[in-house]
Amino acid sequence: MLIRARAHAKVNLHLGVEAARPDGFHELATVFQSLNISDVVSLETLEDSTPAAMTTGPVVQELRASGTYAAGVPENDKNLAWRAVEAVADAVRGERELALPKVRLQLEKGIPAAGGMAGGSADAAAALRLAAHAFADFGAVSEEELLTLAARLGSDVPFTLIGGTALGTGRGEKLAPMLSRGTYTWAIITNAEGLSTPAVFAKIDELRAAGKGSHPTMDTSAVAQALMSGRPEALAKVLRNDLQAATLSLRPDLRKILDTGMAAGALTGIVSGSGPTCAFLCEDEETAGEVVAQVMFDNKGTRGIVTTSPAPGIEVI
Ligand code: C5P
Repeated sequence: MLIRARAHAKVNLHLGVEAARPDGFHELATVFQSLNISDVVSLETLEDSTPAAMTTGPVVQELRASGTYAAGVPENDKNLAWRAVEAVADAVRGERELALPKVRLQLEKGIPAAGGMAGGSADAAAALRLAAHAFADFGAVSEEELLTLAARLGSDVPFTLIGGTALGTGRGEKLAPMLSRGTYTWAIITNAEGLSTPAVFAKIDELRAAGKGSHPTMDTSAVAQALMSGRPEALAKVLRNDLQAATLSLRPDLRKILDTGMAAGALTGIVSGSGPTCAFLCEDEETAGEVVAQVMFDNKGTRGIVTTSPAPGIEVI
């Protein structure tokens, strides 16, 4: 059996970050929106039900990454998608010592890796849904259970599972769908050099301890209101990312990218999540194309994608 799912990237329209909690995670108030940039995740179960095709141990045999952004994607059990399939297998087995089909995974990467766009999380969300499908004859995993497994895998995994537009609280895993009217056009600028999410969160703590960081902005009502208007100019005025100062302090080169994009006509530009990807909200596709061209011309190692939001969650195709 070969099944496939489309997994979408995300942008944080608002990212409010409080101080670190005792467990090391930061309390967030964030507005997620899915982007029409996607990976395709394929899950193949070894055919027939011979003992050789089944196992009571780890089920994933192989993971391969291909496509534009495959470089640097781990092809082993460090990959969240790999761990997602094993998590579903464990959930299906429960206390039973149950033989399940062995599995191969393929990731076609259209989402930049280590970019602050939840590419790895989206792959994991797709793998959760596909594995639940593939093992359905052996035991059901409820939607609620899938969301619990998703949250255990990573803070962004639950959102990439449901997609659309949502308010995320807790460490980002507690979700409430939000209304969003219309379509928004973006120029997304990726970077050859990735950035570590934990390093960015550590930097915001350091800046704040030195009295240099901004106060947490946990009120998301301005974004909620702008999304209901459906007007990109209204949304542009209220985009907010508390991590941006920390990201720019680690990567001062991004400042020039933000400036170039603004000069090229974007309504506004922000760092996406923990970065280094920058997201420019634009009035229309033509302007977004100009932003991409100008930024790529002026900044070595950047690549641009014109896209829209919102997009759906995991879709089996
Ligand atoms: O949950 P996830 O594994 O994606 O988080 C990666 C890292 O980002 C965490 O280990 C932590 O350092 C940081 N993080 C955080 N607060 C959050 C989410 C992530 O400090 N709400």
